[in-house]
Amino acid sequence: MLSNQAGDGKRTSLHGHWSSKMAFILAVTGSAVGLGNIWKFPYVAGENGGGAFVLVYLACVIAIGMPVMMSEILIGRRGRRNPVSTMELLGKEEGSSKNWRYVGMLGVIAGVFILSYYSVIAGWTLSYIVKSATGTFVGATATQVVADHEAFKLNVGMMSFVHTLFMSLTVFVVARGVERGLEQAVRFMVPALLTMMIVLLGYSITSGSFGAGVEFLFTPDFSKLTWGSVLEAMGQAFFTLSIGMGAIMAYGAYLPEETSITGASATVVAADTSIAILAGLVIFPLVFANGLQPDAGPGLVFQTLPLALGQMPGGAFFSTIFFILLSFAAWTSAIGLMEPAVAWLVEHYERTRAQAALIIGGTIWLLGFGSVFSWNIWKDKTFFQGTVFDNLDFLTNQIMLPTGGLFIAVFAGWVMCRNSTADELGGAGLSYKAWRFGARVIAPIGIAIVLFFAIKNVV
Ligand code: PHE
Repeated sequence: MLSNQAGDGKRTSLHGHWSSKMAFILAVTGSAVGLGNIWKFPYVAGENGGGAFVLVYLACVIAIGMPVMMSEILIGRRGRRNPVSTMELLGKEEGSSKNWRYVGMLGVIAGVFILSYYSVIAGWTLSYIVKSATGTFVGATATQVVADHEAFKLNVGMMSFVHTLFMSLTVFVVARGVERGLEQAVRFMVPALLTMMIVLLGYSITSGSFGAGVEFLFTPDFSKLTWGSVLEAMGQAFFTLSIGMGAIMAYGAYLPEETSITGASATVVAADTSIAILAGLVIFPLVFANGLQPDAGPGLVFQTLPLALGQMPGGAFFSTIFFILLSFAAWTSAIGLMEPAVAWLVEHYERTRAQAALIIGGTIWLLGFGSVFSWNIWKDKTFFQGTVFDNLDFLTNQIMLPTGGLFIAVFAGWVMCRNSTADELGGAGLSYKAWRFGARVIAPIGIAIVLFFAIKNVV
């Protein structure tokens, strides 16, 4: 094991540090904003009936997501290692047990599983760049766009190719290291994506059934809510914020001492949530205006947006830009998904970053074929929750991330002593008290209740 104890007693990270506070916020936002906001949020909200689901999701983001995110960053910065070693080190340091490392392991595995299917969907966005640029959607009808998407999903060769391409791009950035790789990629992507969403919102307001969309998203009908959908909303909150699996912990390890964890977390949560809600506000009015189904599932965004963009003046251009930005957003998230595993391999097995990125990336790439085939040759081979993709999605988002988040909150709230956490969060003011109550009480109890009832209903 490499040592990273600096002379003054404060630890430094082996992988370098962020060049500024802004760079950290950008990187965490880059990790948070991704397919989860634009691809996943609209389709899970659509499948779960809209309003009530959105309300539960927002409640989870604020009451559970925020304290868990702060816990992850503070643990990461205190340990300054990969999530496995950090949890082990702090477990011992705080007089508990080194077995807390298994929480780190759970995160490493969750990241690998998530990225295996995330890369496949990110591959879809790469394909849709080319489809847009070549004018596939210009003037297309709803039926044509839907048929094109269905045909695309059956094309095993193309889907394998784009999955491979996306994984290669991800391995490339991860191999180059934290500072050089991440900061550059994120710096322009988030503002550009926000601008694009606002342009699309303008179109959606003028050409979609805006009232119907808003009503669907914000009028809660609690009769549609089951424990299953509450768990899905909670899982979505974890997924979209990149929490519960050590990604944010790994990023926290590179955070300078003086940065405010509370401020950084609030900024990221606000940016991530705004982009998700914006995506919903863009998509549902278009769904209703074009007679599409809100519960179309994972294909929803890939049908709705090309259709709308194809009808817009300059559609091929805007559509190309949109899918380029979405690919970028997915790319910066994918880097976060790999970071815990790569940092762990580098530190624990003394690999170079490039070797680690290749080993982990190769494993994820292979696993990804389970999801590639879920839409074609293994489409009918369903078990438990459905296809391989459905099962990976359920296992990671709805079980592993909330479980990871539960342990992270308990660790920061109960195992770490007050001095350690107050030191990281800067004093004992109101925001510290709010965090501590969230991490000790609200997050653990909330997560435990939802997991318990939802699992009871599944089995
Ligand atoms: N938050 C990312 C998204 O919304 C996904 C992600 C999850 C990234 C976990 C890193 C860690 O797309």
